[in-house]
Amino acid sequence: MTEQSGQGPALDNLSTESRVFPPSAAFTEAANVGESAYAEADADREAFWAEQASRLSWDTEWSQVLDWTNAPFAKWFVGGRLNVAVNCADRHVEAGHGERVAIHWVGEPGDSRTITYAELTREVCRTANALASLGLVAGDRVAIQMPMLPEAIFAMLACARLGLVHSVVFGGFSSAALRSRIDDAQARVLITSDGQYRRGKPAPMKDNTDEATAHTPSIEHVVVVRRTGSDVRWTEGRDLWWDELVGGQSDVHEAEAFDAEHPLFILYTSGTTGRPKGIQHTSGGYLTQAAYTHHAVFDLKPEQDVYWCTADIGWITGHTYIVYGPLANGATQVVYEGTPNTPHEGRHWEIIQQHGVTIYYTAPTLIRTFMKWGAEIPGRYDLTSLRVLGSVGEPINPEAWIWYRETIGAGSTPIVDTWWQTETGAIMISPLPGVTATKPGSAQRPLPGISAKVVNDAGVEVPHGSGGYLVLDQPWPSMLRGIWGDEERFRDTYWSRYAEQGFYFAGDGAKYDADGDVWLLGRVDDVMNVSGHRISTTEVESALVSHPTVAEAAVVGATDATTGQGIVAFVILRGSATADASTAKTLRDHVAAEIGPIAKPRQILVVNELPKTRSGKIMRRLLRDVAENREVGDTTTLADSTVMDLISSGLKSSA
Ligand code: WT7
Repeated sequence: MTEQSGQGPALDNLSTESRVFPPSAAFTEAANVGESAYAEADADREAFWAEQASRLSWDTEWSQVLDWTNAPFAKWFVGGRLNVAVNCADRHVEAGHGERVAIHWVGEPGDSRTITYAELTREVCRTANALASLGLVAGDRVAIQMPMLPEAIFAMLACARLGLVHSVVFGGFSSAALRSRIDDAQARVLITSDGQYRRGKPAPMKDNTDEATAHTPSIEHVVVVRRTGSDVRWTEGRDLWWDELVGGQSDVHEAEAFDAEHPLFILYTSGTTGRPKGIQHTSGGYLTQAAYTHHAVFDLKPEQDVYWCTADIGWITGHTYIVYGPLANGATQVVYEGTPNTPHEGRHWEIIQQHGVTIYYTAPTLIRTFMKWGAEIPGRYDLTSLRVLGSVGEPINPEAWIWYRETIGAGSTPIVDTWWQTETGAIMISPLPGVTATKPGSAQRPLPGISAKVVNDAGVEVPHGSGGYLVLDQPWPSMLRGIWGDEERFRDTYWSRYAEQGFYFAGDGAKYDADGDVWLLGRVDDVMNVSGHRISTTEVESALVSHPTVAEAAVVGATDATTGQGIVAFVILRGSATADASTAKTLRDHVAAEIGPIAKPRQILVVNELPKTRSGKIMRRLLRDVAENREVGDTTTLADSTVMDLISSGLKSSA
């Protein structure tokens, strides 16, 4: 059994938490989805998903809902054909909603754009014509590294329209990280911007992509959106300004329908080894579950609601709950470019007040940051438009949950704590706001049509009141279809642990409470969760040892009051190197350059030894004890039992 990688603040008072908050009768009355959905889905799961797929426009009806004969490779809506972009744009115009606002875009410096569904459709068509003019054909990969601009959404949908596979790389990832993702997917085109606004200042973006594309032979063109107007280097023939390429195109484009299993995108995420995995998603099943869960979990009423998800499109949350789910549902949403404290700490609340946001979806780490800034800040704004609040990315601690409900939700707004992963594609476990009596800190119950279980090492479901591992025991429409170019790793990572039972192993610890509700307990593998971002310990360790002064490194995730976990690194320097005041900074900057600023260790401790078992495995559990200032636990399996004393005393004398 793998040891628990660390437990965030979520666990503080889980065992004593017993408050329950049922929805109001009025909410339940008007809710999109009621209690009966669970039984309906249980009675016939495939019929249930077929009904949900009918929310979309299909060019050709499927002949079979699910083909699981080649498990773990699923086929959903076999034989069905659709165009994902048409489903997210054109069909709303055809239904008479062309004048409805799709996107209220808010730029960090205060500029804004309002984009209706009619305009969205025209922009997507123009962009699709532009990409087609570069010779891209269905199945080709397009990399996108961009800030939160409308063009990022146009680009993703234009890819979908042409059957191109997009690979969006978070703007905060380094050139080295971008390069390896471009290489892995052999992307032909990269779409980026000259720069981005971050914390009130223009910051470069193309500089970063230039460093990557200097070494990526597969890239034929770099398309550059003008955002900050800053100077950029230019490679004639390869680089193209978005305005010039897209601006001159026709805004009409005849879309082709693609197979339900046509690949839609690849999104890289950290695993337990150093190399990120390209998670593959396809079209029909993904869009079905994205649309259904957005409708059910957020109770979206497209005619009335103004929805806002604060994620970045570089993560799966941005893909499913900014681009595909909301747009498939014809929602009106806010898309915000910048940081939450620019130019002031009330920026989010100001945007909610200004646009009358009714549904707000964010991450626990941000909620805890808002708590730190103080309740008086949201107190200055009118937040009465809010009617559903969502949380995603890590277990939410009951204290933050209660603050969210009281301070942002006026003590009455339902909170949906949504558990899912890049791999699941869409929400899997969550309360339904009109049905569930919510519990602070629990994601509670698999959605209708979804099955999840908490099992022990042997794969046997644990009784209520006990903990174990979370597994998904039935296929679901938006499940990953593989890891790009690595079938073996796909089987190995997710399907080998419970091969006999055919369960998908999620990598999370979980428990049932006495009512059978699910409480997520954090990762059980060597994956850390920092501000809701997944980072593997091995990835940071490889970055550290790639520095010439480092001989060995061990990384652990230590509980952090704001970010959930913080990265703490223990390093052994090479013989000739000595630690001085600049060592930690040098190494932190090195990790930022190798992976990105999000992976910078919070703390770097120089040590002479690392605790290892006799087989040479680093005992991270003991290092975590040190990192969290705890009494060091059982050291009897250490090859050298004095190592921990050496580390502890060394740290004391250097402190
Ligand atoms: C991991 C997936 C899903 C989009 C954001 C992260 C953790 C996510 C919750 C939640 C407890 C959660 C899990 C999961 N996680 N949401 N509501 N409660 N834990 O996507 O980067 O693929 O990370 O995030 O540990 O395995 P991701």
